[in-house]
Amino acid sequence: MRAKIAGIAHYVPERVVTNHDLEVLMDTSDAWIVERTGIRERRYVREGQGTSDLGLEAARAALDQAGLTPADIDFIIFATLSPDYMFPGCGVLLQQKLGCPTIGALDVRTQCTGFVYGLSMADALIRSGTYRRILLVGAETQSMGLNFTTEGRDMAVIFADGAGAAVIVAGDDDGPGILASVLHSEGQYAKELWMEVPTCLAPSTRMTEMIAEGRHFPQMNGREVFKHATRRFVEAVDEVLEKIGAKREDIALLVPHQANKRISDAVAERLSIEPARLVVNVQRYGNTTAASIPIALSEAVAEGRARPGDLVVLVAFGSGFTWGATAIRW
Ligand code: UT7
Repeated sequence: MRAKIAGIAHYVPERVVTNHDLEVLMDTSDAWIVERTGIRERRYVREGQGTSDLGLEAARAALDQAGLTPADIDFIIFATLSPDYMFPGCGVLLQQKLGCPTIGALDVRTQCTGFVYGLSMADALIRSGTYRRILLVGAETQSMGLNFTTEGRDMAVIFADGAGAAVIVAGDDDGPGILASVLHSEGQYAKELWMEVPTCLAPSTRMTEMIAEGRHFPQMNGREVFKHATRRFVEAVDEVLEKIGAKREDIALLVPHQANKRISDAVAERLSIEPARLVVNVQRYGNTTAASIPIALSEAVAEGRARPGDLVVLVAFGSGFTWGATAIRW
């Protein structure tokens, strides 16, 4: 049996934050942000709106599209690096907010690659016959945790909030569905893109001191991440294509994690994917980490860019480092 996407939807908060809005807070410019990242605006939550709330909106829309209700879902997978709480995870919060029965709920902690990891897990759980209908959510609320001073500008101008959700169901062996996934990690680079605090490596009594030192803000070695990302994106696409016996020219739609327009453009060029076969929406939403692929896929599907029978490839890279790709027959 093949696992297929029966519904794909997204939700972004209403508040639009432009590059000009950020110019007021730190030493940056619209020109710099557009040239280095392609981003023009992004969405931020209102205070009190959490990652599980964004996920809830996207999940409801994906369920509607699939013609299912929360009672039909067997299992929840929730990918995020910005959960409402350190614990419990967002999966259980979503189970309660949706009003699902007491089904299992798993949080995935692989950052920008979270949706691809989650999709691969959902695919395996469905093909093994363990579950028949899985709700997969990728959602982030990063605006609450960024450093909006010049010191934090490299990350503050990129990262943003949003959510995407997919309903994965059991389908026919030769029908539409997930063909293969590849997943990778390389922990030696964990500190190239990370958030140190809160941590369990120091007693909680030291937390105030660590926060005063700014160690609760995410940190990124942008150049290093950029270099690895462009290489790993290309490798993962080629690896998943090889697994299914397909070629680069067979890809009808490439949906890369929306990290930076320069990264997507470089990857597309190396893979000889022309703009008509590439999904880019980072200019409107920024980098929404685990939410970026489902948001991009949801928009592309709504625009009719994925037609029945098309080979759609999702590819991601991020903190960990983690990276991976999934090939889907649409
Ligand atoms: O989500 C997956 C993981 N994340 C990524 O894939 C992100 C990967 N990295 C990037 O996208 C890019 O490295 C950035 C957009 C973060 C930075 O672009 P860059 O072209 O690599 O710039 P840089 O880090 O080499 O910095 C160039 C200059 C520096 O100034 P100096 O040292 O040359 O004087 C930075 O301080 O740009 C400065 N800079 C900024 N200037 C204005 C860094 N951030 C900003 C900013 N506004 N927001």
